[in-house]
Amino acid sequence: MNSTDSTVAETTAKKEYPRRIMTFMRRSSAFTTSQQQGIDEYSERYLLDTENQRFDAQAIFGRVAPLTVEIGFGMGYSLITMAEAAPERDFIGIEIHPNGIAQICYEAGQRNLPNLRIIDGDALLMLENYFADNSIDTVQLYFADPWPKKKHHKRRFVQTHHMQLIRQKLKVGGIFHAATDWEHYAQWMLDILEVAEGFSNIAGKGCFAERPEYRPLTKFEVRGQKLGHGVWDVLYKKEG
Ligand SMILES: C[S@@+](CC[C@H](N)C(=O)[O-])C[C@H]1O[C@@H](n2cnc3c(N)ncnc32)[C@H](O)[C@@H]1O
Repeated sequence: MNSTDSTVAETTAKKEYPRRIMTFMRRSSAFTTSQQQGIDEYSERYLLDTENQRFDAQAIFGRVAPLTVEIGFGMGYSLITMAEAAPERDFIGIEIHPNGIAQICYEAGQRNLPNLRIIDGDALLMLENYFADNSIDTVQLYFADPWPKKKHHKRRFVQTHHMQLIRQKLKVGGIFHAATDWEHYAQWMLDILEVAEGFSNIAGKGCFAERPEYRPLTKFEVRGQKLGHGVWDVLYKKEG
């Protein structure tokens, strides 16, 4: 191979496998007693093995029910509340933060929740490889890392190409729901989603949505409201 060939090969490789920009920072701290218990006693039931596997609702939940996937559930308080409040739906949370994963296993195990499972991994990879196309009813993204510095905006989860991946995985009529307390990110999401192919804004063109009753208010949201801080929801539907 001459030098020109190798340059072409390198260019092709870059095109086919663009370097992945991470939407998260890896961080963890020592487990609390309940987090350790979450892993020791409940991870076998709640943590999914996704290696070389595809999502199979019947095998995992013993039924096929409307499916909500939450990206980046943090410590999982909203997700636990939602799963408990909607036993007729199934929920899968994806997170890379070990303490959050351990904590939600503990909370789910203590409540013996049958309709929740957890994935330890990058949500983008999981959406690409684990979930079939047209298989998810709702994808939710609550208080995602706002990456406030301009040079880090490329790390924000809401990007045009990520929204097309979500569209591919949602059923027709399925919902993408995001909430943020960061005004610049809220407007960023609206700007991207308003022109995203195959989505329509449930709240009306160019509008933020009211918080749907099913999204629990977080503690810091209540605190923020008292201080006059805003929270913005966006709700988009996948068109046929
Ligand atoms: C600011 S926290 C918000 C957590 C939670 N949703 C809440 O409302 O408190 C964002 C979380 O998203 C997770 N995250 C970011 N990108 C992710 C990705 N690509 N896959 C899985 N988790 C991700 C981070 O690890 C972090 O825990």
